[in-house]
Amino acid sequence: MSSNSFGKLLTVTTFGESHGPAIGCVVDGCPPGLAIAPEDFRDDLDRRATGRSRHTSQRREADEIEILSGVYEGQTTGTPIALLIRNTDQRSKDYADIAERFRPGHADYSYWHKYGLRDPRGGGRSSARETTMRVAAGVIAKRWLAQKYGIAVRGWLAALGPLTPAAFDWAAIEDNPFFWPDAAMVQELESFMDRLRKSGDSIGARVNVLASNVPPGWGEPIYGKLDGELAAALMSINAVKGVEIGDGFAAVTQRGSEHRDEMTPQGFLSNHAGGILGGISSGQDVLASIVLKPTSSILIPGRSVNVRNEPVEVVTKGRHDPCVGIRATPIAEAMVALVLMDQALRHRAQCGDVGAVEPRIPAKP
Ligand SMILES: Cc1cc2nc3c(=O)[nH]c(=O)nc-3n(C[C@H](O)[C@H](O)[C@H](O)COP(=O)(O)O)c2cc1C
Repeated sequence: MSSNSFGKLLTVTTFGESHGPAIGCVVDGCPPGLAIAPEDFRDDLDRRATGRSRHTSQRREADEIEILSGVYEGQTTGTPIALLIRNTDQRSKDYADIAERFRPGHADYSYWHKYGLRDPRGGGRSSARETTMRVAAGVIAKRWLAQKYGIAVRGWLAALGPLTPAAFDWAAIEDNPFFWPDAAMVQELESFMDRLRKSGDSIGARVNVLASNVPPGWGEPIYGKLDGELAAALMSINAVKGVEIGDGFAAVTQRGSEHRDEMTPQGFLSNHAGGILGGISSGQDVLASIVLKPTSSILIPGRSVNVRNEPVEVVTKGRHDPCVGIRATPIAEAMVALVLMDQALRHRAQCGDVGAVEPRIPAKP
């Protein structure tokens, strides 16, 4: 009803607000025997964190994870895994100015109408602080998928405003604060972001996520399609305004002779479908792409109204991301991993005794 949970056999429930005492999640349905410790969450939480470069919000959270349940002597027990992170760097007075006025482009006005009240501090529940717990839950899913199936779920920033990578190198992605696959362009991105920040404005972005080694057969027709569930999960990330699978909207101008992925005994010849046919994985890499809108909390004055319907000017001070897409890569990876793990468990539950099915052809490298 209130939709703070998702998934069917692997369910994730998150709780907490941006400026409350803590945020947390409960991951239920993880099989027993998965080795996991608090330090295993460190890398991905750091990848998502603010304050790691001058191009993101300067809020500095330690993001120390506490495992409250579901893990005994370093292994999951099969019972609900509760994870908690205490908020330590709230600066709620920054939000006094917008307590009674609605930021244009943010969730303030719609939350007000839904609930009749709102927690304005840091955006409350609408803040991307909540995505910290998705990333934490995603660590469990990534780990399980990697150990059980050799699946890797990896993302990158595929566009920053008008800039797109001219080259692609997996090794470059983790070496710069943008998750950018083209090391030669990082300086250009830095200058772009410095100019943008000085102007007080924000910019949109695109993030791609590729899951490799996904076996064929995951996904449920009709209402539990893998692409449908990926779209819903990715669209649930703050500021996401579009999701594409494979070639996505480029299919508008493609011919069938071009878009279909031809098959030979040696393997698929292309992957326009993004690894999903009929809502079920084909054994090709699963490619999902999201578009994130430009941050609405900006220093450029904008027209709005307050709770008394008086015209007001809104200038949002405080600590904000000038491009929310820069920190979205680990969040998108987490959502893809959680959907895949849920679908893997569901496939096993329904079709577990269906043996190896031939032919099985290799994915397009
Ligand atoms: C990683 C990340 C960081 C974000 N940081 C900010 C921010 O600093 N300021 C802001 O106004 N919105 C930020 N957002 C976006 C808002 O959370 C989002 O726009 C708002 O909740 C309204 O929801 P909607 O854009 O999905 O309609 C961020 C989103 C993400 C994914």
